[in-house]
Amino acid sequence: MTALRVLAVASEIYPLIKTGGLADVVGALPAALAPEDVLVRTIVPGYPSVMAALSSGETVMSIGDAFGAPARLVVGTVAGMDVIALDAPHLFDRPGNPYSGPDGKDWPDNWRRFAALSRAAADVALGALSGYRPDVVHCHDWQAGLTFAYMHFSAGPRPGAVMTIHNLAFQGQFSPALFHMLGLPDEAFAANGIEYYGAIGYLKAGLYYADRITTVSPGYAAEIRTPEEGMGLDGLLRARSGVMSGILNGIDADAWNPKTDPHLAANYTKKTVADRALNKTALQARLGLDQDPTTPLLGVVTRLTWQKGIDLLLANIPTVIAEGAQLAVLGTGEPGMEDGFRAAMGFHPGRIGAVIGYDEGLAHQVLAGSDAVLVPSRFEPCGLTQLYGLRYGTIPVVARVGGLSDTVVDANPAALGRGVATGVQFAPVTYEMMRVAIERTAALYRQPDVWKKMQANGMVSDVSWSDPARRYAALFRELLPA
Ligand code: ADP
Ligand code: GLC
Repeated sequence: MTALRVLAVASEIYPLIKTGGLADVVGALPAALAPEDVLVRTIVPGYPSVMAALSSGETVMSIGDAFGAPARLVVGTVAGMDVIALDAPHLFDRPGNPYSGPDGKDWPDNWRRFAALSRAAADVALGALSGYRPDVVHCHDWQAGLTFAYMHFSAGPRPGAVMTIHNLAFQGQFSPALFHMLGLPDEAFAANGIEYYGAIGYLKAGLYYADRITTVSPGYAAEIRTPEEGMGLDGLLRARSGVMSGILNGIDADAWNPKTDPHLAANYTKKTVADRALNKTALQARLGLDQDPTTPLLGVVTRLTWQKGIDLLLANIPTVIAEGAQLAVLGTGEPGMEDGFRAAMGFHPGRIGAVIGYDEGLAHQVLAGSDAVLVPSRFEPCGLTQLYGLRYGTIPVVARVGGLSDTVVDANPAALGRGVATGVQFAPVTYEMMRVAIERTAALYRQPDVWKKMQANGMVSDVSWSDPARRYAALFRELLPA
């Protein structure tokens, strides 16, 4: 088997730039695919944190006009990853969030920023860097979507094209008035092209021109082909069903390993799971919760948004209190939801603890110190926190949607009877069913033998990248010329 070269295109890559799970996945795939003999290079925007990490990188290409000003491609190795940065200060040298300004609104020139990324990626894909020709281009989410349109309208042989959807809710739609600035031929602005209900759709373009489409769980792959969950793209996705598949995400098994995790008060394994108690005590202390080892402690680490069902959680705070439980929340997001948790802390001191902010270390402590982790998402392409929960002996309590339903075995009588349950699922995603799920969780917690069995089942389930990496590698190899 010869090594296969993959050019990945993405807007986020852990540990350089992250707003969510997309970064984790893009950052994990290079190492995960190496044992499959797949060599990944990843092209990303030259945000300040990326350029700082590549300060000793090498300039490999100058671009005279990258949508308004000169730019360059800089390559370097960061955290073992082969990274190409599009250094375009007029587009990416901005503080804070990669997508929005200090006012919280999307940057008005996002169309130009990610067209430039895609244009550069297409050029690299087609051989602009001497000595480098990828076999496959792997685009992640809308920010990379135009890459395949640019490749399609270029002459000569082109690599295979795989588009991965991490979240269909973000589609990169822009005014048709911008079309003439993209440098694509007129024929590209069509239903059989990048046009999307009269606008320009970056994700749509990627989905239309890709050879293969993947999303991050089989469950979500099925859901998004329905009008209810397809967010306007279900028709196209149904038409492309034959080239579409779902491949679950894995987690970074080194960073998320309770045996070695440096953030924890006490490390533990499946055998020494009782030592989790020390992490619970430490978490209660950190969040100002009552020091009670017997109360069920429910943890949440998430973006505070409608997608994540956080309004349902806020509505269920009385349920948490009524069940004698505690809640530990770590998150940022919609200001109203942030305020909701601040208010709940005031109403229920010692029972509700919330840190409004982004904190990697605390995320690990919440997972290790909580008895259960709540993930009440309205939709969830894959979800990573329930996978951390499985690995950490933290019972996942999840909405039965997308990747959550694919990765957690509900503690229904059949699963309990066979001893295979790993968590609690609820559907539909309503206040009422979430209340029932919290009640069920508290009841299970009061049956220590059942609870321990569920923890043990979770801790041995395979949430690593091994199996997903094999699937990606096989998919990439299908695209090699015969
Ligand atoms: P999404 O990408 O939709 O936000 P995922 O579950 O795939 O959801 O990934 C979220 C990632 O972001 C996980 O690695 C999670 O631990 C992390 N995360 C989310 N919010 C925070 C936070 N406030 N502090 C630290 N990590 C967070
Ligand atoms: C998206 C999804 C999340 C998924 C992540 C990584 O942010 O919302 O479910 O785990 O991408 O694929």
